[in-house]
Parts: sequence; structure tokens; C-alpha cells
Amino acid sequence: MASATMQALNYLGPYKVRVENVVKPKLEHPDDIVVKVTTAAICGSDLHMYEGRTAAEPGITFGHENMGIVEEMGEGVTLLKKGDRVVMPFNVADGRCRNCEEGLTAFCTGVNPGFAGGAYGYVAMGPYRGGQAQYIRVPYADFNALKLPPGTEHEADFVLLAGWHGVEISGFKSGESIAVFGAGPVGLMAAYSAILRGASFVYVVDRVPERLAAAKKIGCIPIDFTKSDAVDQIIEHNGEMVDRSVDAVGYQAVDPNGSSEKPNIVLENMIRVTRACGGMGIPGLYVPSDPGAPDAATANGMISLSFGKLFEKGLSLGTGQCNVKAYNRYLRDMIIAGKAKPSFVISHEIDLTDAEVAYDKFDKREDGYTKVIIHPNGGFRTGIYDSGL
Ligand SMILES: NC(=O)c1ccc[n+]([C@@H]2O[C@H](COP(=O)([O-])OP(=O)(O)OC[C@H]3O[C@@H](n4cnc5c(N)ncnc54)[C@H](O)[C@@H]3O)[C@@H](O)[C@H]2O)c1
Ligand SMILES: [Zn+2]
Repeated sequence: MASATMQALNYLGPYKVRVENVVKPKLEHPDDIVVKVTTAAICGSDLHMYEGRTAAEPGITFGHENMGIVEEMGEGVTLLKKGDRVVMPFNVADGRCRNCEEGLTAFCTGVNPGFAGGAYGYVAMGPYRGGQAQYIRVPYADFNALKLPPGTEHEADFVLLAGWHGVEISGFKSGESIAVFGAGPVGLMAAYSAILRGASFVYVVDRVPERLAAAKKIGCIPIDFTKSDAVDQIIEHNGEMVDRSVDAVGYQAVDPNGSSEKPNIVLENMIRVTRACGGMGIPGLYVPSDPGAPDAATANGMISLSFGKLFEKGLSLGTGQCNVKAYNRYLRDMIIAGKAKPSFVISHEIDLTDAEVAYDKFDKREDGYTKVIIHPNGGFRTGIYDSGL
């Protein structure tokens, strides 16, 4: 019998993605489930691959922010049942290695041989196909699938359960001030979580007007880095340096006139704007090899940094992928309780067939494209999203 097929968004090469028919995933292990994807988000991290700025090979199905309904279940799965609505961390983790045991699920050593960390649909992150597709296989499902209330309520909030990390790894404590660089979904989520956690002042730095407006709407102070030096603007408003800073931009940061990439500019700004003994959280992505880097050193992931200044100020820093599993249960409950509504970052809600256009527009940050969610099996609205915040 021919294998069943489904539609999935595949990477074909720089700036090229296409919806193709591929083999529908099957259970490969008793601990697996197959999820019918109701919602999958496009992430800024997908754009690094989309632009050909990673070692990603054609054929990969993107999509690491996924949720849906349990369609098939292996006999080893005990905590879930068919028909459950679930959301998955973007990390794939086994729940049993030393790092998982300590809550560091982004660095699981059991799912991607020779590497600490696995993810769906991402270069170097293991053999797991992405969820910008009608179905997705989830390994170690009892550990990796978090059960949600049935129905469709809060669908767009639950898909965004990954934003807490940048603030956490900066060492943030309530009452402190914080500067978040980048007002993409990651930056806006970091800013929002700082507000939920009782920050005094939250500064959000970007140049895209719609994104700065979104930051203002949730109570942050927007800083446009093209107007004048971002650090000077923050210190002037704050009266002193801030306690914490977050890099939600990563290695494709641009210089103040927006004309060229400057991979160290955000890190340098953070070293300048953070008070002595403060902390820097760096969820923004840096890669060990970048085929499109502006210079030879950064092509090998060597970013020059004022390390002397960092030392002098006794700054601490945290970095790496988000240990989603360490937070998502609590964030789920804050959403259910009506205390958090992260869907305010979503700008567009589309069908899988619209994904090719959406990648292009999101990549250019055009037409207010901030965060796109895809419904690969239809059934929801399409078009501009209105979170009503
Ligand atoms: N650590 C993790 O687990 C994790 C998870 C998701 C995303 N990421 C990474 O986080 C970063 C942000 O993701 P996103 O989805 O929000 O991406 P995004 O590309 O939508 O947002 C980045 C924003 O940074 C702004 N920017 C560029 N240069 C800047 C500068 N010099 N100063 C201030 N802002 C500047 C851009 O205008 C853009 O709005 C990416 O590098 C992504 O790969 C990390
Ligand atoms: Zn593990």
C-alpha cells in the first residue's frame, strides 16, 4: 500500500520555500505520538535558515513552535489519550538525561547524537521534521507534549509558550529595570514577561514602527535606535544604567542606519547599558558557522566583544536556547487564568498555502508582519490577526 501523504512547507534553498506533498509521519517508537497540527508559528529563527545563513540543506520541513490534537499514540504513552489538545516545546528532549533531570531540556544529550539539544525542523538539531505541516511526530511524548484544555480557546496564546527565557537568564528580579534589544516576537515576549514579573522600567529597542508601537501598548518605553544612540536614550530616561538587558536580536543585528549587519552591536550596547554586577540574557541566536557573514571571523562564529569592559563591570551572562519545558506548564496556567495573553504579538493568521508569501513578507518585516501563525489543517480564520488587547 502506498504511504499516506500530507502537505508540508519545505525549504528549497535561500529565499525559497514551497508547500509539497510528503510522506505522513508514522509512529516509530512506542513512546511516540503523531499530532494533527492545528497551529504552527513561523519563528525569527526560521528566517536564518530561509535566508541561507545557516548550514540548512534543502528538503528540511520548517516549524518548531507547534500544537495540535493527538491523532495516533504508541503503546508506551501513558499520560495522554487520542484527541487531547497538546502543545510542544520547540526542543525535543528525552526527559531522562542529566541535563533534562536538571531542567535544562534545551541541552538534552539523548536526542541528537554528538550534540546537546534537539528541535523540530531545525538545522543541526536532529532528525525531527517540523510542524509547518499537517502532521508531526513527537518522540518521548509523555515528556514533550503538554496537555491543554480541550477546544480552541486560547489557541493563539498557547502556541507562544516560549518567551520567558531571555529575562530568566539575565538574572532578573522583580522591581528591576531592563532593556530589551529587538522587538520581534522574542523581544516583545521578553518585555511582556518582564512586565508580568514586576519590572520597574522596561525599555524596548528596535526600528520597526509597528513593533515599537506594540511594545508601548503593553507598557514599555520604546527606543528607536535609528534616532540616536540607543544606550544614551535609555540612560537619559532611566537616570542611570539598567539592571538587566536582553539580546533578542542575535547575529543578524544591523547598525543604526540599518544599512549593514554588525554582529556585535547589540552585545556591545548591552555591556554599555547594564550596571556593574547586572546581568545580560542572550536568547538571540549566534551560530558557529555563517555562510553569509560580513567578515571572515564571524563566518566562523568568532564575534569580537569588549570582554575587558564586561569583566570590569562584573557582568554575568546567560545564553543558549530556551528550556521551554522548565516554564511552559506555569505559563499555560497563567493563560488559562487570564493573567497572560501573549497572542498580542501575532500579526497574521494564515493557511499553509499562504506560507510562501508570509515568509517573504516576514523576512522583509513588511506590512506589519511580526508573528505569523499557520493553521495547516484549516479550520480557523485567515488574514490579519486581532488579539483585541
Ligand atoms: N534562544 C532561543 O531559544 C530562541 C528562540 C527563538 C528565537 N531565538 C532567536 O532570537 C532572535 C529574535 O527572534 P525573533 O523571532 O524575535 O526575530 P526577528 O528577526 O523578528 O526580530 C529581531 C528584531 O531585532 C531588530 N534589530 C535588528 N538590529 C537591531 C539592533 N541593532 N538593535 C535593536 N534591534 C535590532 C529587528 O528590527 C527585528 O525587529 C533571533 O536571533 C532568533 O533566532 C532564540
Ligand atoms: Zn535529555
